Amino acid sequence: METAMILLTHELPPDWLTTLSGKDVLVANGDPSAEFPGQLDRFLEEAQAILSLLSVPIGEDLIQRMPRLKVISNMAVGVDNIDLSACTRRGIPVGNTPEVLTEATADLTMALLLAIARNIPSAARDAAEGRWKTWMPAGWLGTDLGGAVLGIIGMGKIGKAVAARAHAFGMKIMYVDPHEFQGSIADRVTLDECLAQSDIISLHCPLTSETRGLINSSRLQLMKESALLVNVGRGPIVDTNALLQALQAGRIAGAALDVTDPEPLPKNHPLYQLPNCLIVPHIGSATRGTRKRMAEIACANILAGLEGRALPHCVNPDVYQNKNPG
Ligand code: GLV
Repeated sequence: METAMILLTHELPPDWLTTLSGKDVLVANGDPSAEFPGQLDRFLEEAQAILSLLSVPIGEDLIQRMPRLKVISNMAVGVDNIDLSACTRRGIPVGNTPEVLTEATADLTMALLLAIARNIPSAARDAAEGRWKTWMPAGWLGTDLGGAVLGIIGMGKIGKAVAARAHAFGMKIMYVDPHEFQGSIADRVTLDECLAQSDIISLHCPLTSETRGLINSSRLQLMKESALLVNVGRGPIVDTNALLQALQAGRIAGAALDVTDPEPLPKNHPLYQLPNCLIVPHIGSATRGTRKRMAEIACANILAGLEGRALPHCVNPDVYQNKNPG
């Protein structure tokens, strides 16, 4: 294979990228908050591949400036940062990293769910700040998980892995999804039923034009006052202002967010001040093994794209309709 120039949107640990050795890999940003392409702007005409992170918007304008582009590989399962239709029109396959992050993301969901259901952030803060005076029979009371209803919105791989964990905790599970899963441990219901009946709602659907703003003020109104909301999907699935108002007004009891809109949520955002809102910085897949494996899959997608082979994980397989990848 001829030498190929790969643009990496952010620095990654070198031992995650060993399969790209020998290739011309240019890193755009040592500063993780800097925008792509930054100082790599002058290489757009020459580059043949982009290895991107989910925080980097890749729009039609950028793609149009890359005449030699053969593949885009996102180190994430979600690809809502990429203009897929523009890529497909240009015949550029887009890769993602599914499956490998399912268990880690489901584990984080349970961690958030348990933390918010048992008031762990506010209890820990009270202990550290001297408000733990004695064993308090009616202090820091949380929600029992056994028998509680978990509503999963988006029953893909991660949703199912969360359902398996919640089942082991004795929760009753219902889900909302375009598809029905036979023999599932969960009951399929409508969105309104799910919102009205669940003690905890957990969001696992992709961000699309249908799911953007799905949890808005009228849907938050449908939830129980005692209900908790967990979001490890994508920030814009929830209307941030509507959530803030619902939490401030006691319309729902709490929220735990791995993803926010905008992302990152600015330091002075009022959601950080609420004792019943837990926010972590998009760490669903952040385990050492999972993130390394994601990078390796992203590299495998890059190599396949450069060689004109079908990507191991391609999100726009339509690109192959009129082609014949090896
Ligand atoms: C994480 O959010 C991912 O899409 O991989």
